[in-house]
Amino acid sequence: MRNPVAKLLLFGATGDLAQRMLLPSLYGLHADGLLPEELTITGTARSEHDDASFRKFAKGALDEFLPADRKDEKAMKSFIERLGYQPLDATDMAHYKDLAKKVGDVSKGLAIFLSTAPSLFEPVIKGLAGAGLAGETVRIGLEKPLGYDLESSREINDTVATAFSEDRTFRIDHYLGKETVQNILALRFGNSFFEPVWNARGIDNVQITIAETVGLEDRAGYYENAGALRDMVQNHMLQLLALIAMEPPARFDGTAVRDEKAKVFRSLRQMAPADVPHLTVTGQYAAGAVNGEIVKGYADELGKPSNTETFVAIKAHVDNWRWQGVPFYLRTGKRMPARRSEIAIQFKAVPHSMFGDRGGLLQPNMLIIRLQPEEYVRLLVMAKEPGLDRDGIRLREVPLDLSLDSAFAGTRRRIAYERLLLDLIEGDPTLFVRRDEVEAQWQWIDAIRAGWEANGVKPKSYASGGWGPSAAIALTERDGVTWQDD
Ligand code: BG6
Repeated sequence: MRNPVAKLLLFGATGDLAQRMLLPSLYGLHADGLLPEELTITGTARSEHDDASFRKFAKGALDEFLPADRKDEKAMKSFIERLGYQPLDATDMAHYKDLAKKVGDVSKGLAIFLSTAPSLFEPVIKGLAGAGLAGETVRIGLEKPLGYDLESSREINDTVATAFSEDRTFRIDHYLGKETVQNILALRFGNSFFEPVWNARGIDNVQITIAETVGLEDRAGYYENAGALRDMVQNHMLQLLALIAMEPPARFDGTAVRDEKAKVFRSLRQMAPADVPHLTVTGQYAAGAVNGEIVKGYADELGKPSNTETFVAIKAHVDNWRWQGVPFYLRTGKRMPARRSEIAIQFKAVPHSMFGDRGGLLQPNMLIIRLQPEEYVRLLVMAKEPGLDRDGIRLREVPLDLSLDSAFAGTRRRIAYERLLLDLIEGDPTLFVRRDEVEAQWQWIDAIRAGWEANGVKPKSYASGGWGPSAAIALTERDGVTWQDD
């Protein structure tokens, strides 16, 4: 049941995420009339602003980051009027009193969006609780990174739990806010024809790719200590894997959906240290060219040598009845040739080819769910090539295409944070990550890191603009599987 709050408190309100994503998302919701009428938004951060200067700052962010066709001066003006600001030194307990005073009465509900360095969780939660900003009517949304491994994630979760019960804790994985990610659920559970083949009898392998063209950007401090495994696999890729692998939930609600995802995480086959080098590949981008632009290598950008992986490929297994023996190949990297997030599901080959020699041409069917930059679902099927061949019929693989962009042309593509901020404000936890999910994810990730350490695994260099180290190709080829690239 949705239960909207009357107030929103935005930590990190002058940061990059707020400017690029949060303020434009909140404006989008406001312009579409989706925010509660009375909702006020208080921004807080270290920067010295008052209401007026923060409003100016926010207007600047909207001007810069909203697409031209979304800029409605009247809507922007009324949105800006919802905003206020209170500066905060997160480690100074006295400041929280002022913050609470600024926020005012929270009896009609307060949602907090917290994005902060891991080291600040403790003072922030303590400060909020001490100032009366953590009571029953308050819920909290938490942005990553929520820890570094299982132990530190537990510490953060424990700290948060001292003030916020689990049902008032909303852990964000922004991939879950993407329309196409939610569409996986629609495809699987809104259609009857996938389910009978959606298992080890029908599916040969699953490939999940998140490729990015960007490099380190301005995030050296964070990324150098994270690496691709923590940055992308622990959260986004495992969430995608869970949506593909989970059993049908009984309802689209926070309990049913998250119960099923959690079961998948608990079924991930834990890697023994000795197996890790055979089941994973790590890489770090060297200099090269991406989209025709010459770019530096990672260590050069960083200004020192590093063993942080900017690419990782993994062969994973879900040890349960449905998925026994089906490899899930995961691959993510920076400085790849194209920005692309996609899931490719390769079905089993036909058991017998009646086309004789031409059977060699038969390709197993493949379902491609392209999440970004385009949004489509494509089924690769074999079809007869037109022609009057005398020695049988000639087959060719052709795509059955469902372009979501054109099927839903005319509807605006929303930022993932619009969905998530709306759900946080209204209290729907379905698309947020529960504690047991996060901890099971970390447990699996930690075993991989331990294997890298035990075996002295160092990332292999790969040229920027390529698909990662050649070992990543070997990872699938030795199983007779080729990464879906086009
Ligand atoms: C973030 C990672 O969680 O996701 C970034 O920290 C990455 O390193 C980003 O670039 C990718 O998100 P998207 O939505 O652009 O695919």
